[in-house]
Amino acid sequence: MSFHQEFFTLNNGHKIPAIAVIGTGTRWYKKEETDANFSNALVKQIEYALTLPGVVHIDHAEVYRTYPELSEALKNTKKPRDEIFLTDKYSVQQKITKDPKEGLETALKRTGLKYVDLYLLHSPFASPEKNGFTIEEAWKQLEDLYKEGKAKNIGVSNFGVTDLEKILKIATVKPQVNQIEFGAFLQNQTPGIVKFSQENDIQLEAYSPLSSLQKRDESAEAKPFYDYVQKLAEKYGKTEAQILLRWVTKRNVIPVTTSSQPKRIQDAQNLFSFDLSQEEVEKITKLGLAHPALRLYWTDVYGKYDEEAQKP
Ligand SMILES: NC(=O)c1ccc[n+]([C@@H]2O[C@H](COP(=O)([O-])OP(=O)(O)OC[C@H]3O[C@@H](n4cnc5c(N)ncnc54)[C@H](OP(=O)(O)O)[C@@H]3O)[C@@H](O)[C@H]2O)c1
Repeated sequence: MSFHQEFFTLNNGHKIPAIAVIGTGTRWYKKEETDANFSNALVKQIEYALTLPGVVHIDHAEVYRTYPELSEALKNTKKPRDEIFLTDKYSVQQKITKDPKEGLETALKRTGLKYVDLYLLHSPFASPEKNGFTIEEAWKQLEDLYKEGKAKNIGVSNFGVTDLEKILKIATVKPQVNQIEFGAFLQNQTPGIVKFSQENDIQLEAYSPLSSLQKRDESAEAKPFYDYVQKLAEKYGKTEAQILLRWVTKRNVIPVTTSSQPKRIQDAQNLFSFDLSQEEVEKITKLGLAHPALRLYWTDVYGKYDEEAQKP
């Protein structure tokens, strides 16, 4: 079977695979890291992903506490380093390492890597009292790590418009990426964030792109959406998940997905074997927007935006 992969180009000219096929959050996330909760299943899934053709995009974060599994899989793979795209994130919300510099140094030491492909501030919620630094100071540290070549690209996650504005005001290196929750049933994590990021050439990534399948809504109101996705799945001979992930890429957003099932990881890596028409993309957008917001993460801080989240 011929394999075709797509990439997006970041605002520094670097290429990024247009889908991340294995995230180590969600089901793999651990509250603490111990020898007893080392997950062989996760090692196997990452190792499996790394046997797939093309550049394999892995999404990791220090707060997931999965360095042991990631390191083990990286040690065992034969995939060349330039065919692995590894994202890692500094945990602003929960102090694990002192600051982003220590966070990335720790990541490199633990994985045995010389660099990560993308390093993100996991959230904007920093304060001098809690963290010992402001979010602007954290960003300056990422810029240093970028200039030293320890992070090939840098960015943020869960940032709203005002958070991005703060960074853009002081940045000498503009964030390359903003990773947010995004899917058919949550098309704006915070007010105006999709438009603002895209207008400012900050590449969006979508976590929980499959929330509408994870939490399938059996109500009559949701039926037109699911019927349409199923119809497209039949038309293209693809899974419903592939239709929704492809829709995300057609919105110029990088889906960040994960699975415990090898077939689903393979389906995600093979996403570009078909295309959706503009009309189909727009119809999924419209049917998705007709559904109330379905938000899985950061509900305590962003739940207040649920109504605005389903505005185009
Ligand atoms: N930056 C942040 O704050 C943040 C927050 C959350 C997540 N993330 C990142 O994003 C990654 C992906 O997040 P996510 O897990 O929410 O993404 P997702 O792609 O929306 O969901 C993946 C889950 O959906 C299930 N799934 C896959 N295909 C399905 C189908 N056809 N029907 C029903 N369920 C299906 C999978 O279960 P199976 O295992 O059974 O296939 C898996 O548990 C995380 O691992 C993490 O790396 C980042």
